Amino acid sequence: MEKRTEFRKENLSILREVSVLIKESEPLLILTGAGVSVESGVPTFRGKDGLWNRFRAEELATPQAFKENPEMVWKWYMWRRSIIRNVSPNPAHESIAFLESMKKDFLLVTQNVDGLHKRAGSKNVIEIHGNIFISKCTGCGKKSFDFESDSDMICEECGGLRRPDVVWFGESLNKEDIDRAFSFAERASLILVVGTSGVVYPAAHLPYVVKERGGKVVEINIETTPITRIADYFLKGKSGEILSFIVKEIKRR
Ligand code: OAD
Repeated sequence: MEKRTEFRKENLSILREVSVLIKESEPLLILTGAGVSVESGVPTFRGKDGLWNRFRAEELATPQAFKENPEMVWKWYMWRRSIIRNVSPNPAHESIAFLESMKKDFLLVTQNVDGLHKRAGSKNVIEIHGNIFISKCTGCGKKSFDFESDSDMICEECGGLRRPDVVWFGESLNKEDIDRAFSFAERASLILVVGTSGVVYPAAHLPYVVKERGGKVVEINIETTPITRIADYFLKGKSGEILSFIVKEIKRR
């Protein structure tokens, strides 16, 4: 039975019910997407103000685009880095870090490349699409973490071209990460799906695996998604507000 509710005073009983469920569920899997960082000021990909509405993915986020115009691709990533450097984790990231601290058996899978979950204190996290602040040399494979400042486009070790260490369209995800995420999903008793449109695979498949194996699916989003159809609970609203409420409720009990 699917229960839908909005974050309003008159709906607090369902939110309380979900808080108890999350408190009692282990292994707990959380899947996040761009919506979780909106309240920090990071744009999403889809929707009215989404990046893919303003920019063409095939010109900026494919291996082909990088081959043809690495300067333009780098410029776009440096612009995104500059936005993310200047924002902070929001209550959604902080609440997720708190939920991890309560659990022994926990995994966070994020599609976000902004690194905000780690900055909020999340430890057991798979950044399934990479991290925007990591650059990787296409020649020798050397990686560098560029949070403070951007390193040169040319690798000082081998003279090769550096690229952002993120997954582009048409590229495969790290196999180890995928295997770890899906084997966790197979035994998770609950998956909390937060702020993702649920259209990019394989990440979007995780809730279906949990459901098939008898686990519960709880979704938090400002609008419905393809995942809503299989959700046991759909909590409509901003992730920072709803997750803060859930954490407060868990602490109160
Ligand atoms: P999308 O931009 O596709 O979806 C963002 C979701 O967040 C939408 O469902 C919104 O309704 C929801 N949302 C917006 N504000 C919210 C808020 N305050 N609280 C809760 N939900 C909110 O982003 P993703 O699903 O993360 O891949 O996109 C998946 C992948 O597509 C990205 O990782 C990226 C992109 O192409 C790569 O770059 C490989």
